This record gives sequence, C-alpha cells and structure tokens, in this order.
Amino acid sequence: MSTRIHFATSVYSEPLQKRGTAKLNDELAQECEQLEAFDVDGRKWSAANYPGGYTSYASMNELHRFSSTFEGLEKKIGKHVRAYAKALDFDLRGREVFMTDCWVNVMPPFTTHGLHLHPLSFISGTYYVRTPEGCPGIKFEDPRLDRFMAAPPRKSKVQPINETFITYPAVAGNVVLFESWLRHEVPANQSEEERISISFNYAWR
Ligand code: NI
Repeated sequence: MSTRIHFATSVYSEPLQKRGTAKLNDELAQECEQLEAFDVDGRKWSAANYPGGYTSYASMNELHRFSSTFEGLEKKIGKHVRAYAKALDFDLRGREVFMTDCWVNVMPPFTTHGLHLHPLSFISGTYYVRTPEGCPGIKFEDPRLDRFMAAPPRKSKVQPINETFITYPAVAGNVVLFESWLRHEVPANQSEEERISISFNYAWR
C-alpha cells in the first residue's frame, strides 16, 4: 500500500521506576493532603477554577523546589523526559531539559478538568499517585481537529493512528508525557474515591 504516516503525535507512558512505587506514592499522597490543608490560596483558586477539587497550579507550583520528596520525583521524571525528547529527535544544542513547574491535583468524585494546553513549556506530563478503580484517564485530542473542514466522520472502529481522541488510563506509578501543545482533558471522576496526580512542565536551556 502506498499510504505512509507523517507528522505523528507522540505520547510517552512508562512506569516511573521498577521498585518502591507504593512507598513513594504513600509519601506523595500524604504531602498532597497536607498541602491541600495548608494552601488557603490554592483552595480558594480551586473553588473558582477547579470545582470540587484542589490544585496547587496557581498557588504552589514549584513543589520540586520546596519538598525533598518532590525533588526526588523530579530527578526520576527527568530521565523519562530526556528519553522522550530523544524519541522526538529534538536537538537540544547541548542544553538541559529542566522542570519549570510542578503541582498537585486532587480530584474527588465528580470533579472534572476541561480541555487545555500547557503554555510556556515544550514537554508536559503527569505522574499518577492515587488512581481508584473506575477513575478517569487523560484524554488527548487530535491536534488537527480544527482543520478537518469537510472531512466525513470517522467510523466507530478505526485504527489507533486514526483516532480523534485517545485516552491513556491513569495508573498509579506511571508517568505520561506529551508535547505541551497537545490539548487534553480529564473527564469526570466517576469512582468513589479521590484521584491524585502530580503535573509538571519542562523547558530547555
Ligand atoms: Ni494538563
């Protein structure tokens, strides 16, 4: 067949580490809960912008600089980001990739996180800390969706490369990376427990 694939969109998904995930996630979950209790500004911002949930996105978004647990997480995520940048064939010109922001998302039942991008960075991602059964994954949108113009709709069953949306399940201990321009959302949490994740952005210099 003479059709080839070009202009691919790559998403990276791997376990953060081989061992010690349960212990790390217990520590992170505890710090996330402490942060939520302590962060009055963040709770206020979340009430207006993340109804039902808590995020430190607008209040405490450099957690890798303030907590040794998060600093350790940053080191581990960095390895994955470098592997992903390599897979994308980026020429970093001898510069380093580095985490600019890192924040917490606590998502109780029914909380949702609408479609968005991550401005001012080139690679973004999420690490999953608590993922109760039935909780939502991260749903990515085809970045060409606004250019489909007069294209017919897609069949209900298509090859993975022709999906208009693709959802990566949230799995505790996994890190998911994507290019920061790729629009995504987290549908409503239909589980009965809190879903906890840590999101981050990377730049290069
Ligand atoms: Ni996001």
